[in-house]
Amino acid sequence: MPRIRTPLAERLGLDFPIVCAPMFILSNKEMLLACAEAGILGAMPSINLRSHDEFRDTLRWLRARTERAFAVNLTIKLTHPERLEQDFAACLEFGVKAIITSYGNPRELARRARAAGVVVMHDVIHLEHALKAQDAGADAIIGVSSGAGGHAGTTSPFVLYPYLRKNLRVPVVAAGCIATGQQMAAALSLGAELVYMGTRFIASTECGADERYKSMVVNGRPEDVEYTDAVSGVHANFLRATLPGGAKAERDAAQAEVQGTGGKKWKDIWSAGQGIALATEVKPIAAIVEDLVREYAEAVRSLPAVEG
Ligand SMILES: Cc1cc2nc3c(=O)[nH]c(=O)nc-3n(C[C@H](O)[C@H](O)[C@H](O)COP(=O)(O)O)c2cc1C
Repeated sequence: MPRIRTPLAERLGLDFPIVCAPMFILSNKEMLLACAEAGILGAMPSINLRSHDEFRDTLRWLRARTERAFAVNLTIKLTHPERLEQDFAACLEFGVKAIITSYGNPRELARRARAAGVVVMHDVIHLEHALKAQDAGADAIIGVSSGAGGHAGTTSPFVLYPYLRKNLRVPVVAAGCIATGQQMAAALSLGAELVYMGTRFIASTECGADERYKSMVVNGRPEDVEYTDAVSGVHANFLRATLPGGAKAERDAAQAEVQGTGGKKWKDIWSAGQGIALATEVKPIAAIVEDLVREYAEAVRSLPAVEG
């Protein structure tokens, strides 16, 4: 059985240092189970389930099928405090191995999670926030680079991962634009201990995304992705064709209307990162992981050696 070991992957009991990143609306229990069976870490935002009871049912469903690790994303400021507390308690009750905190200060959750032996990973786009999260007790920092799906930063992955690595005590997780095993090898060579991939897994058989969404991901070019704060007030990457108006001039006029759409945001306006350029086929998660591992091995083997 092949494995690719990093200290953080070992700690999480993974065969491969890969996370199927949490995606609002899209991540589902079938993806988490397929990830666990493929030896990688699946993750989902707890608020993908409409109620706490549904979230509990999901944890129960997963625990009945796998003993392997999966992760839950707690979106701190986007979740009602009572729901956040209930979801957090359920994570501990059902033995969730890792909690991914985002959209808020992780200090309190990190303290309690670590006391229970749960790995806490926090996502950031800047070193400043990374240092704060490290001080707040995060076990690992997810650096979200430019070009990532969802809320993305503006720093190139070529700089962000080694820059965070150089300045942090805790492990770095590389997020943004990674869709192939070659990129995974690059991210690990830049100091990351896990790669964190969202966009590539939109085009998985298990993902419940609309078929047109999947088709745009596997047929897209980097130029089809637009970085804008017009949808939610925070900069994120979207498939341009799904933004109101399509082209910028018309869209500016439609912006007010979009901001009034509440829950329809992200449902009808589809997010994806520049990695669409390298995701070319919808496949089961097990097959995507096989591709990533094969490509990683080829990349490592084919690097020119230092001669002489
Ligand atoms: C459709 C979509 C929804 C997302 N929703 C969330 C979310 O709810 N919480 C979160 O922390 N990150 C969210 N993200 C960000 C991903 O977890 C991850 O950082 C990102 O997908 C990595 O970049 P990549 O898409 O280029 O692989 C989302 C990304 C996408 C594409």
